[in-house]
Amino acid sequence: MKRVMQDTSLKGFFKATSMADMDWWSALWSEPEAVLRKVGLRPGMKAVDLCCGYGWFTAPMARMAAPGQVIGVDIDPAMIEAARQHVQEQGAPECRWITGDAGEIDRQLSGNVDFILVANVFHGVPDRTALARSAATCLKKGGQLVIINWHALPREETRVLGEPRGPLTELRMTPEQTRQDVEPAGFRLHEIIELKPYHYAAVFLKDQEATSHDGKST
Ligand SMILES: C[S@@+](CC[C@H](N)C(=O)[O-])C[C@H]1O[C@@H](n2cnc3c(N)ncnc32)[C@H](O)[C@@H]1O
Repeated sequence: MKRVMQDTSLKGFFKATSMADMDWWSALWSEPEAVLRKVGLRPGMKAVDLCCGYGWFTAPMARMAAPGQVIGVDIDPAMIEAARQHVQEQGAPECRWITGDAGEIDRQLSGNVDFILVANVFHGVPDRTALARSAATCLKKGGQLVIINWHALPREETRVLGEPRGPLTELRMTPEQTRQDVEPAGFRLHEIIELKPYHYAAVFLKDQEATSHDGKST
């Protein structure tokens, strides 16, 4: 995959969420299928990779969710194009693509989604409960919202290929901070899963009625 320059000046672009270079991203996330299996992605699901970047998780999602459907969402059209190519190159089933703001995903998808992945972005979202509410609107009752975050470790300690990587120390979130931001949107924390060496997945289940942007309950 060619290096894709990100336009971080796009309106709504989340803070400190530009996509990492493939060299260290692929070293850090060398087994994306294993991660997706651990967090509960299963065949037949309708699944969304929210803020999909260049599709590192989207391609294995598409393979693993078949015969379901996978939808990749990113605010940056260049990322959507790179992800589309990556999925093709990986020989994964075709996905649906949405170029747009993750915070407004409830305007694009109705409430029949089984699984939403938000990987490596939640630290930069200005209103995290609003994002979770938007995700809740898209999910079925009992549907899963999976948030993968860097652990709240000093950046100096999270080294990949010999360099400190990931968001600034002060932006990193604990599992408890994540729970506090997400549960008010109509979720219940189901499980925290360790993703060594530096990440965790917080798995939430939708357990209440959520309200969409236009005020209708889902
Ligand atoms: C650090 S990358 C993570 C990509 C992918 N989730 C992964 O873990 O491989 C974050 C992505 O979020 C996208 N992004 C930033 N702000 C966004 C927004 N408001 N709505 C949708 N995507 C956004 C960026 O374009 C970038 O591709």
